[in-house]
Amino acid sequence: MDKLQWLCLPCLLVFAPFFLFGSTSAAHHHQRDVLHPVVLLPGFSCGQIEARLTDAYDSPSPLCGLRKGDGRWFRLWKNSTGLQDLPNMACFADQLRLVYDPTAGDYRNVPGVVTRVLSFGSARGFLSDDPADKENCMGRFVEALERVGYSDGESLFGAPYDLRHAPAAPELPNREFSMFRRSLTALVEHASRRNGGKPVILVSHSQGGLLALEFLNRSPLAWRRRLVKHFVMASRGAGGIVVTMKGLAASDGGGVLSMRRVKRSFESAFVGLPSPAVFGGETPLVVTRDRNYTARDMPEFLSAAGLPAPAVKL
Ligand SMILES: *[C@@H]1O[C@H](CO)[C@@H](O)[C@H](O)[C@H]1NC(C)=O
Ligand SMILES: *[C@@H]1O[C@H](CO)[C@@H](O)[C@H](O)[C@H]1NC(C)=O
Repeated sequence: MDKLQWLCLPCLLVFAPFFLFGSTSAAHHHQRDVLHPVVLLPGFSCGQIEARLTDAYDSPSPLCGLRKGDGRWFRLWKNSTGLQDLPNMACFADQLRLVYDPTAGDYRNVPGVVTRVLSFGSARGFLSDDPADKENCMGRFVEALERVGYSDGESLFGAPYDLRHAPAAPELPNREFSMFRRSLTALVEHASRRNGGKPVILVSHSQGGLLALEFLNRSPLAWRRRLVKHFVMASRGAGGIVVTMKGLAASDGGGVLSMRRVKRSFESAFVGLPSPAVFGGETPLVVTRDRNYTARDMPEFLSAAGLPAPAVKL
């Protein structure tokens, strides 16, 4: 699902006119003048999150509380070394999960966990400490763009986001996505200004497409016309994806870190569900012995998967 080959074809088509310029330095120079700035929105797991723990953190074990109150930031996501270390996994699980705050009507970190997304604005900030993620997080695409003259921070930008959060319906409180929209608005304006007022090209991969689409739909039309030239959405159906249902229904083997439990706490676990407008009410998406579930049966499916209704903000 998160494979780069899905990404490259549509992108190459859009960028073909730019790629076709020669590679002598004069041509390179000229090419730089005609390039439209590009802002990348990477896939689900690509935004990197740092955390620090305050004294308010109610640690499930002494190990998990070791960093409490020391004010130091550490890599919460994606910290592959930490996630491979069994005793630490339970700590990561506890600190990564979200809680739904019924008073705020919105999702929050666990009390005492403060988080921030790294390197907003840069296309170089998507990478975790796991080299395999380079492929999934537009690494090769960034290199290809750089070969044709794009340069990080000048004509190439990145909008990583906190994978746990997602856009809620416009009338609902949605602090994290509101902040993301403000930052992305500023980034698009900055990218255009820096490139002689040329409108930007947004390129998204996977989950990034959902954020970009919601961002665009909620931006004024006049602003979009002035500042956004194209939106290239790679490897994501705007109608939702079936594999999201698998993530909610299937056990991942549990163990110390049940990622299913953690992922179910994410606001983003629910926004990628297949839409009946696209998948209809006929095709069974989940087949069980007793009954099948189509995109129309989502409330029944969620309750069969054991999700408490009030925590689900559809
Ligand atoms: C990843 O987690 C381990 C275990 O908690 C920690 O020692 C390490 O500092 C973390 N990595 C980063 C880059 O913060
Ligand atoms: C579920 O769907 C499968 C495949 O379409 C079908 O063979 C099966 O009879 C259906 N089961 C129920 C309980 O409707």
